[in-house]
Amino acid sequence: MNTSLAKSFSFLSCLYVLNLSIACQTSTTQGPKLEKPTNQADSAMVVSAREEASKIGLQVLKDGGNAFDAMVATEMALAVCYPFAGNLGGGGFMVYRKANGETGALDYREKAPLASTKTMFLDKYGHPNPALSRRGSLAIGVPGTIAGMFEVHKKFGSLPMSALLKPSIELAKKGFAVTENQSEMLNHFQKDFLDINKDSILFSKNFKQGDTLKNLALAKTLERILKNGKAEFYRGQTGQKLVEFIAHYGGILSLEDLKTYEAVWRKPIQVEYKDLTLISMSPPSSGGIVLGQILKMIEDYDLGALGHNSTTYIQILTEAERRAYADRSFYLGDPDFVDIPVDSLLSDDYLQGRMSTFSFESATPSKEIEHGKIIGYESEETTHYSIVDQFGNSISATTTLNGAYGSKLFSDDLGFFLNNEMDDFSAKPGVPNMFGLIGAEANSIEPGKRMLSSMTPTIVEKNDEFWMSVGTPGGSTIITSVLQTILNVHEFDMTMQEAVNAPRFHHQWLPDEIVFETKGFESSLLDSLRLKGYTPIQQQSKILGKVDAILRLPDGRLEGGADYRGDDKALGF
Ligand code: GLY
Repeated sequence: MNTSLAKSFSFLSCLYVLNLSIACQTSTTQGPKLEKPTNQADSAMVVSAREEASKIGLQVLKDGGNAFDAMVATEMALAVCYPFAGNLGGGGFMVYRKANGETGALDYREKAPLASTKTMFLDKYGHPNPALSRRGSLAIGVPGTIAGMFEVHKKFGSLPMSALLKPSIELAKKGFAVTENQSEMLNHFQKDFLDINKDSILFSKNFKQGDTLKNLALAKTLERILKNGKAEFYRGQTGQKLVEFIAHYGGILSLEDLKTYEAVWRKPIQVEYKDLTLISMSPPSSGGIVLGQILKMIEDYDLGALGHNSTTYIQILTEAERRAYADRSFYLGDPDFVDIPVDSLLSDDYLQGRMSTFSFESATPSKEIEHGKIIGYESEETTHYSIVDQFGNSISATTTLNGAYGSKLFSDDLGFFLNNEMDDFSAKPGVPNMFGLIGAEANSIEPGKRMLSSMTPTIVEKNDEFWMSVGTPGGSTIITSVLQTILNVHEFDMTMQEAVNAPRFHHQWLPDEIVFETKGFESSLLDSLRLKGYTPIQQQSKILGKVDAILRLPDGRLEGGADYRGDDKALGF
């Protein structure tokens, strides 16, 4: 990883306080200890980045709503109390499995504005300028979240929209308590908020833990959306104000962009791994394909016998990840714009061939792995939630503004931040950007195109029944965090909470290094990898992902895994 990027990831990582509490619990877990937690529930559960959001989602279930109703309520609550990544101004993906076994996926990813161009982030020398793609008005993709919520509700909702939005409207009016993590993050970005907005905003004050944060403007926006529906955001007063606001800051997002935005139902990626069936997000996310490729490449190994986080276990995962991420960089993009050979990329013959050069003796240098001339790069500030309802339906949803607080551009009038998702495109295909990363033609900017993502909301079946709902933030590390969480339970018999807590590592082809969390890996292990030609990287306070997951236990009860790396909370009944 490039040094400056790594430093900023590390800084953000260290701001997470190691504090987990599970509401349906009798014990708490601090740090990555593999102890037995008791965060179980009989029939329904919500796990999200904030207790307030999990509570609101769970109340909807208690009121007789289903997992899709709870999704809308939880996502809107995160938009209020977790502005770091929860959003009205961003987008996301959701994978579902209904009680009858039917599966599907919703894409409410942002799109490039119609006035965007392939070279819009290049300077006069033709070099990518990340300041333009990451901060301020040009970084904004057409938001998809509100379209996504209305699409879910139209297809699967059972309670009126008022029952799903009112709790968040009340939360925005009454306010929520700022956590220690949150105060540190808000204060860290205070200067950026002031610089980019050229004025103070609601979030640019000095915050301390326990302060009450009310967002009356967001309450009003949600009230208008409740009254006028999706059209309020995409063609009504809110849409008008949004376009004027972005134009005032020099942006290009138009009313036509909003009017033409639609969330899209997609066929999820389905992959068999041993006795599991994974249902995960299809393009424009790379998550499902890359996760599936890695699992198929490691399927023939007895991972349990290798030992959890042993040298050989890390080797086999790293080598499969190297090959899968190389393919990701070359082949993947928006399926509405590029042809993706999904079946070939996931075929057994192809993947066996890819692993034929692997040896436990020494690392395969990434420069010897063909296909990626590039890798897209996503930042780590996203959020994931998992829900299982009392009827047997399950959802897995990941939503994002991309960077922390997105572009940092905040409409005081509308009460929400706008994304900087345009940075997920390859600003200049084939040429490394200032971070030494290369981008692919398949993920080049085109008007109306969705930018490639790594978000990996995933549902896993065992014996044709729901087994796990899992996902995480973490940019390009999302896929490997989801992978390790599934393997921790399936191969190493961990509980859901233990699997979430366990220390993680990450490799993504380029840069040719393995990133380790700070806690949980001995220096002798890293030395053993060095001897085999790997480059382990372990920085201070580094965390990878913030996994929220639900596991169905053999007796049918549910066990939540809420990541201790954040303020995450599992609630159930
Ligand atoms: N913006 C992070 C991702 O989509 O993967």
